[in-house]
Amino acid sequence: MNNQTFVEIGKKVVMNNVARLPVTISKGIGSRVWDADGKEYIDFLTGISVANYGHSHPEITKALQEQAGKILHMSNYFYLEEQVQLAEELIKLSGYEQVFFCNSGAEANEAAIKLARKYGKTKLGGKFEIITAKQSFHGRTLGALSATGQPKYQESFQPVVPGFVYAEYNNLSAWEAAVTDQTCAIMLELVQGEGGVTPATPEFIAGLIKLCQEKDLLFIVDEVQTGLGRTGKYFAYEHFGFQPDVVTLAKSLGGGVPFGALLVNQKANLFTPGDHSTTIGGGGMAFAAGMVTLKLLQQPGLMAEVVRKGKYIQDTWESWKNELPVIKSSRGLGLMLALELTIPSKQVMLACLEAGLIVNAVTETALRILPALNITEDDLEAGLQIMKNVLAKF
Ligand SMILES: Cc1ncc(COP(=O)(O)O)c(C=O)c1O
Repeated sequence: MNNQTFVEIGKKVVMNNVARLPVTISKGIGSRVWDADGKEYIDFLTGISVANYGHSHPEITKALQEQAGKILHMSNYFYLEEQVQLAEELIKLSGYEQVFFCNSGAEANEAAIKLARKYGKTKLGGKFEIITAKQSFHGRTLGALSATGQPKYQESFQPVVPGFVYAEYNNLSAWEAAVTDQTCAIMLELVQGEGGVTPATPEFIAGLIKLCQEKDLLFIVDEVQTGLGRTGKYFAYEHFGFQPDVVTLAKSLGGGVPFGALLVNQKANLFTPGDHSTTIGGGGMAFAAGMVTLKLLQQPGLMAEVVRKGKYIQDTWESWKNELPVIKSSRGLGLMLALELTIPSKQVMLACLEAGLIVNAVTETALRILPALNITEDDLEAGLQIMKNVLAKF
């Protein structure tokens, strides 16, 4: 079947819950993918920061093949060898006390929200409000959606879960003013991803750390998109010189296998048997893939390469400004980047797709890229060249 036929059938049988592009991907290797017609694309999006080591990474593939023939699932009544090994590795990497494994970013955030509620109930005399950021994104399940400070995602599903208060990102006094006698926690991304790739300012985070100390609030950081090397550090909180009480992870941890995780320090380590669970909670494939992704993350020099490539891309975009007046500015951290344009980003995204480059229109006027952390120089140059050629036509 060709691409168009897949798309036509897909439109009939796959639920119309997101605006999909008219492309059916059939395989991917490294930073290149091919559609069902064999057309090649350079992938600057990695499935939104999931394939951070490129598609079909041989070590991830091998680990999955081996795990598939060993054991996949045994329920929460048992430990799996790979689960224990991965938890140990994550703790070694992060310095947290314990880990909870689940299946997605939204699910990791649901666990964090429940932890905040339990913290409020058991340590703060029943406080339950969580302050989150306007323009944030924490997922689509009802709790995570309620934490998401963007009315457009919530409108059709009101009433959302009560107990969330939204404050303007990077505006400390708005967060101070949002604290009430019911506040138990704050929750935010350190670079807002879906909201348009907006990094937090150091002053804002320093102020929030102080606020949490003063009011004894739980500090929850959603690192579903920023975590595990995307910003040039293992965790984005390292840029800000602190360690939150709770961190949520997902996306690249499973190398493409659905996976999520919650890391807690001693203050937040409050779940007791019966409080929270999920039948599969990652499972053998995710644990096996996770062992490989953490190994790949810790390759010597990788974080320096992420920083170097991120700067190179931003410098390159800046250098096009004179020739390409549609470029306004760029922003981001590491390889989590956005290019602000004077024209609708969707048109540029579609033109890039046509020309063989996958990027994302993250806001009306900004293009987002999240390339593989190990993207080759050749693929990076080829992708940038396509982008430049496309922008030159506007
Ligand atoms: C910061 C952040 N949190 C949570 C999520 C939700 O993760 P998932 O789609 O795995 O549920 C996303 C997804 O893009 C995200 O970017």
